[in-house]
Amino acid sequence: MEETLSIIKPDAVRAGNTGRIIAHLEDAGFEVQAIRRLRLSQAQAEAFYAVHRERPFFADLVAFMTSGPAVAIALARENAVTHLRDTMGATDSTQAAPGTIRNLYGSNIQNNAIHGSDSPENAAIERTFFFAGCDLVG
Ligand code: CMP
Repeated sequence: MEETLSIIKPDAVRAGNTGRIIAHLEDAGFEVQAIRRLRLSQAQAEAFYAVHRERPFFADLVAFMTSGPAVAIALARENAVTHLRDTMGATDSTQAAPGTIRNLYGSNIQNNAIHGSDSPENAAIERTFFFAGCDLVG
C-alpha cells in the first residue's frame, strides 16, 4: 500500500463539507490512517508551501490556508498519490472533471477544497509535517 497526505482546506471546512469529502475518499478506496483538525499559523503555512514561495499567488495562498480550520489526513491505498490526484481533479476547480472533489466542493484555482501530495517523496515529507509516527495507524 502506498501512502499520501491530504488537507481538507479552510473553504471546504467552512462550507461544512468535511464529512462528505472524507466519505468520498473512503468510497475511492482510501484508508484513513490518521486525521487531525487544526488551524495553520502563518509560519506553518509558509513552511508547508515553501516550494511556491516565489509564485505571485504565494501571499494569497498563505492567507487562504490560515483563514480557518483545516483537516489533515494521512491516507493509504494502492497507487495512493496518483489515485488521490485523480480523485481530487484539476487544481482549478472550474476545470476539474465532473464528480471529482474539486468539481463538487471547490470554487476556483485557489479555493479548491483539498490538497494532495504530488509525489511519494513529498507525501513522506508532508505526512511528517502533520503527524508523528505514533499517530499513524495503518
Ligand atoms: P495545492 O494542490 O494545495 O498546491 C498549491 C496551491 O496553490 C494549490 O492547491 C492552489 O490552492 C494554489 N494555487 C495553485 N496555482 C495557483 C494560481 N495560479 N493562482 C492561485 N492559487 C494557486
